[in-house]
Amino acid sequence: MDRKPVTIPAIIGKKNSRSKITALTAYDFSFAKILDATEIDIILVGDSLAMVALGFPNTLPVTMDEMIAHTRAVKRGVQNSLLVGDMPFMSYQVSGEQAIANAGRFLQEGGAAAVKLEGGLRVAQKVRSIVQAGIPVMGHIGLTPQSVHQFGGYKVQGKNLLQARQIKQDARELEKAGAFAIVLEGIPSDLAGEITECLKIPTIGIGAGPHCDGQILVLHDLLGLTQDFTPKFVKRYANLDAEIKKAVGNYIDEVRSGVFPDMEHSYHTEKKPLKKVEGSRGNH
Ligand code: KIV
Repeated sequence: MDRKPVTIPAIIGKKNSRSKITALTAYDFSFAKILDATEIDIILVGDSLAMVALGFPNTLPVTMDEMIAHTRAVKRGVQNSLLVGDMPFMSYQVSGEQAIANAGRFLQEGGAAAVKLEGGLRVAQKVRSIVQAGIPVMGHIGLTPQSVHQFGGYKVQGKNLLQARQIKQDARELEKAGAFAIVLEGIPSDLAGEITECLKIPTIGIGAGPHCDGQILVLHDLLGLTQDFTPKFVKRYANLDAEIKKAVGNYIDEVRSGVFPDMEHSYHTEKKPLKKVEGSRGNH
């Protein structure tokens, strides 16, 4: 399939033309290459890497170096989708300088086109600094997983008036600070709709209902690779966990019974005698 590289103006343009933005996470080269061969607009190297690929119980332990290594791997598989790197916990909270330096690493070392970071009003100044350094920023508000301990768990945010007002203000502050898009996670769909209406930049929802300008999911959830985690907002489009177990089960059976490897999957010596060549070290 022939498609043009997705740019940030193109993502913003999709809001104006009312065509939905599609986004998924990836953490390695193989999956990135598969995704890039589809029409997916945005590939996010999410800090969900911590849970999905590294086996941590939440996103907090993943480090800048780990995020950069995975972003580099994903980049090798991506030619056309817009690549966004997720700034991990404590990589942008300390100071504006720290935030710019770490955001810069995603572009310079990771090959990303933009970064994402969590928080609204409280990180608006950091967002402004990063954008002023020439680095595009995607915001992320609502149920921000790096604040899991503050929230007391992964709880839907913005259900009461006070919280809803705060999240709306967060969205407006991020837009003012120069963010090019905002992820809305784990909020009621009518609130997501109101925010989407009042912003000029696109909203990308996850657990935020159908009124956002786009949607993002964790790839492993969509593929049915994460068995012990099925929140209400996840739709499984495949059951690869079962497919993989079936394939591996078949392999085990065939190795044990001697069916694999058969002649078709083995190398053979040549039937005709080798012509002796002076100085030759023979065939492999
Ligand atoms: O880390 C992540 O995967 C994310 C999203 C899915 C929005 O932040």
